[in-house]
Amino acid sequence: MILLKSKKLIFLLLVFIFGLFILSGCGRTGSPEGELVVYNARNETFVKPLLDRFEKETGIQVRILSGREELVNQIIEEQNNVRADVFISNDAGAMDFLRREGLLAVNGSALLESIGGQFRAPDGSWVGLSARSRVLIYNKDLISEEEMPQTLQELADPAWAGRFMITRGGNSSMVTHVAALRLVWGDDATREWLSAVKDNAGAIVGGHTDIRQAVGAGEFEFGLVNNYYYHLQLEETTGSNVGAVYPDQGPDDMGVFVNVAGLALINGAPNEENARRFIDWMLEEEQQAEFSYYSKETPLNSEVRTVEEARRIDQYKVMDLDLADLGPLWNDARALIEESGLDLGI
Ligand SMILES: [Fe+2]
Repeated sequence: MILLKSKKLIFLLLVFIFGLFILSGCGRTGSPEGELVVYNARNETFVKPLLDRFEKETGIQVRILSGREELVNQIIEEQNNVRADVFISNDAGAMDFLRREGLLAVNGSALLESIGGQFRAPDGSWVGLSARSRVLIYNKDLISEEEMPQTLQELADPAWAGRFMITRGGNSSMVTHVAALRLVWGDDATREWLSAVKDNAGAIVGGHTDIRQAVGAGEFEFGLVNNYYYHLQLEETTGSNVGAVYPDQGPDDMGVFVNVAGLALINGAPNEENARRFIDWMLEEEQQAEFSYYSKETPLNSEVRTVEEARRIDQYKVMDLDLADLGPLWNDARALIEESGLDLGI
């Protein structure tokens, strides 16, 4: 009798467990491992192969929403009804802004240690994977490396008037670079520098692709770009006789400003466990190399190989600042840029 009763209990328990299993397995996606929602502000062609592989390796169904900076606003708007698990960004300024708004979650994963402390949030809520260093691409037919300006400060010198290119003020790399200069030089000096550089620039263009192509074609001697545009230009069949100067490398110089592309963990992520698993997976060397390779950026873990001819992150002097200090300066950097007279648009 007792035996029968316990058999019945076990049966009921099994039915209950099976029911739970079915319920959890029949979520919105139908994937037993659940899903991962990625808001991606990076070029989708750079991240799609990685996301596909993650999906294949784990069975977690990945859904991507790609866009640009407006995704930051979307994350803010959705804070009471969170949809995103992970935010992939090209910009530490944007990620740290979200952290300061309380929209990111603390991440204590030990794998974060493979990335230098200045390239991630103190609470681990965002982490950089690849470096986007601000360098000067130059046309070797028009100017030699020795003749090139060696510091950014020199771009304000009238001697360079009409000889170089910069992007519009609203370019997201420009905005975060300006935020960094505010931290190092202060607001007044940064505004004056920007104003002089705007006057000196031979052309102010929409994006860095315009710069690398025009410099490659010999229309201007040099331009201020992110390092990967130099590597992209090297691959062109024509106009590839270009070099790159990493500015401010002297003993008293400030070093190159390095922004990062990376990942942020959204606070209240509906698939938090999968999000943490994804970030850990991305920090593994193979994925980090791939993340950097597609875009020709430099891996922030110096153990990871770089693209050909790219300097490793420990082979040049980097501006001595924590990217996590940029958040508040990033938020109103656009206002300072406008004050300098450099248009945010064209
Ligand atoms: Fe870019």
